[in-house]
Amino acid sequence: MKIGIISAMQEEIQALLNHLENPKEEEKGMRIYYTGTLYGTPVVLVFSRWGKVASAVTTTQLINDYNVDEIIFTGVAGAVSSTLKIGDIVVGKNLMQHDMNAYPLYPKYEIPLLGKGAFETTNSERLLEASKSFLGNFSTYITSEEADEFRISKPKVVVGDIVSGDRFVTDLNKIKKLRVEFPEAKCVEMEGAAVAQVCYEYGIPFSIIRIISDEANHSAAIDFPKFCESIAQKYVKGIFENYFSLISL
Ligand code: ADE
Repeated sequence: MKIGIISAMQEEIQALLNHLENPKEEEKGMRIYYTGTLYGTPVVLVFSRWGKVASAVTTTQLINDYNVDEIIFTGVAGAVSSTLKIGDIVVGKNLMQHDMNAYPLYPKYEIPLLGKGAFETTNSERLLEASKSFLGNFSTYITSEEADEFRISKPKVVVGDIVSGDRFVTDLNKIKKLRVEFPEAKCVEMEGAAVAQVCYEYGIPFSIIRIISDEANHSAAIDFPKFCESIAQKYVKGIFENYFSLISL
C-alpha cells in the first residue's frame, strides 16, 4: 500500500517531510517527488504548485512513475458555505470544476467526453476520523494565541462538496453565484477537481481534505498567506499523525 500525498503549498508538504523516514527525492518537470515512509506507511509527497494544470500534471506523474495505490490531496480553501469559518475542516465528497463550461456543446460544468461533471471521493472515512481526533486534541497542536489570532474557536469538520477553478476568489458576488450553482459546495480552491478527474481517468482512489484559510472575501488575500505561513502546517501535522495511527490499528 503506497499513498501519494499532494499539496498545493510547500509549507504543508514540509510539515510531513519533517517526519519522512528514509527520504529520497527526485526532480521531474519542476516538481520534487519525495519517497519514504511516514509513520510506517510508504508514501510519495509532492508539492503540486497552484491551479488545475499544475495539479493535474503532478497527479499524472505520480500515478505513472510512482505506482501509488491511492492519492490524498491536502490543502487550504476559501469558505463557500456561510456556516464555515477560518480553521474549520472540509473532507471532500464530490468535486466539481466551477470554471468548466462547454455549453451548448455539453451541459454546463460537465467535463467534455467524460459524461460527468462531479467526481466522487473514496476512502474518506479515515480522513474524517483523523480530523475528529485532531480537533479533539486541538490545543496540543495549536496554541490559544494562534487560535485567537485567526478567531478560531470550536473548529469543526464537515463532509461536503468542493469546487475548483483557476481563480483565487476574493469576491462575495462570486461566492453568492457559487452557492446558487453548487448548493452543496462547502469551499472553493484551485486544484481538487482536477486531481479528482485524473484519478478517475486512471482508476485511482482519491480523497481530499481542505482547511478553511479565508472566507473568499475582500480579506482573503491577507488571511490566506498568513494562515498558510503560521498555522496550516500544524493542522496537516496533527491530521496526518492521527491518519497514519488509524492505518496502523
Ligand atoms: N484557496 C484558499 N483560499 C482560496 C480562495 N479564496 N479562492 C480560491 N482558492 C483558495
